[in-house]
Amino acid sequence: MNTAPALAQLLRAVQPLSVNTSISEVAECFLLAAHSSFLSLPLVDEQGRPSGLVSRYALQNIFMQRFGRDLWGNKPVSEVMNPQPLLVRLDTSLEEAARQITAQLQSPIRDDFMLIDAQGRYCGLGTVLDVLKAMESRVGQRNRVLRQALVDLKESQVQLVQSEKMASLGQMVAGVAHELNTPLGYVTNNVQLLRELSLPLLQLATAQAELADCLADPSCDEPRLAAALDSAATSRAQAAPELLAEDLQQLFADTGYGLGQIAELVVGLKDFARLDRAMSEEVDLNDCIRSALLIARNNIKDKAEVLQQLGELPAIACAASQINQVLLNLLNNAAQAIDGFGRIQVKTWAEADYVLISIEDSGRGMSAAVQKRIFDPFFTTKPVGEGTGLGLSISFKIIQDHGGTIRVASVLGRGTRFVLRLPRRQADQLKRSA
Ligand SMILES: Nc1ncnc2c1ncn2[C@@H]1O[C@H](COP(=O)(O)OP(=O)(O)OP(=O)(O)O)[C@@H](O)[C@H]1O
Ligand SMILES: [Mg+2]
Repeated sequence: MNTAPALAQLLRAVQPLSVNTSISEVAECFLLAAHSSFLSLPLVDEQGRPSGLVSRYALQNIFMQRFGRDLWGNKPVSEVMNPQPLLVRLDTSLEEAARQITAQLQSPIRDDFMLIDAQGRYCGLGTVLDVLKAMESRVGQRNRVLRQALVDLKESQVQLVQSEKMASLGQMVAGVAHELNTPLGYVTNNVQLLRELSLPLLQLATAQAELADCLADPSCDEPRLAAALDSAATSRAQAAPELLAEDLQQLFADTGYGLGQIAELVVGLKDFARLDRAMSEEVDLNDCIRSALLIARNNIKDKAEVLQQLGELPAIACAASQINQVLLNLLNNAAQAIDGFGRIQVKTWAEADYVLISIEDSGRGMSAAVQKRIFDPFFTTKPVGEGTGLGLSISFKIIQDHGGTIRVASVLGRGTRFVLRLPRRQADQLKRSA
């Protein structure tokens, strides 16, 4: 990165004068165009060490006096110089130079400052204005760097939120795949069984058709009829349709139930994945809860029984997919907080201006110290790979963007309750948080 000009770049190569130069000569020097931008001129001794600065201001004072030039003109400039000018080493940083200038130069500013090398020899003149300009450009440059850092930060935040979304989506898909597997397994088995059972039935149907053909055919002889009767009797005995009827009923019912479960999951998935449709669709939050429970069922079923007390709710304008994400995280957190087998209670109710959802678990609860940090991004007490610690911070932002609140109450060893409060009506247009 290009750094702002260092002090050496601000050096003005001004030829120094000797302390013995007369005041008139110095005054002439001030009139030179090359010196027009300086408040003062440098004076050095024979070794090139700074002796002082003579300022325009000091000379003006003299020449404005009556007979000033006649009285003072031939005197050496050392008589009117500032013998203690500000000396700044060339390798000083810009910030340090600015600090020395503000500490040592007095107002009104009448002098420039002298730049010296490590041996204390004069190198050139520096002006306050140059330092000011360099400082300003440095501040401008820092601002640009900061602005870029802010843009980068926002970008990586968006990426994080996105990856958390993908992670919860992945979790959800894995859960749903698992859920689909069970009904799919027995529907497949049942179909296989039905195929096996249908074989003797088909044989029976074929034998009976042959018998019927025989009976209807006047040319059918005795041996053919006897064979057809025999084959029909054997097939009937093998197929035992009166015994099969009950099995078939059961198989069809089970298969129907399995297909129903698959259909329910697919509907749930579709509901859940109403991802990023119109932000302010009117939604019954109870539907969101049912959908999230369905999706989280695989994570919950071995950890807790779920008690639902869903009150009647008015439909509210919200981003259903985002609310689903919040609910899924709260439900998963609740299940993960339970050691052994416990209980998760989900309640909803409506108040005058708000719709409320409470998710309460009988898990291990949280200490006050943990509670204070749960909404911080990346705060997690879960092992690496199990939790990113983003769930609640994203949930917080989603609920905040909806103009709502998310509150937590927890007792260590007893359980935790999260309460979401969402306004019935959105005050402003929903902000997109995704
Ligand atoms: N119901 C709860 N009971 C006890 N502790 C909880 C509960 N919900 C959240 N916590 C605590 O809050 C922490 C942060 O939760 P958050 O959902 O933000 O992240 P996570 O669950 O750890 O990870 P992620 O959600 O990204 O998988 C959890 O690690 C846990 O310590
Ligand atoms: Mg979580």
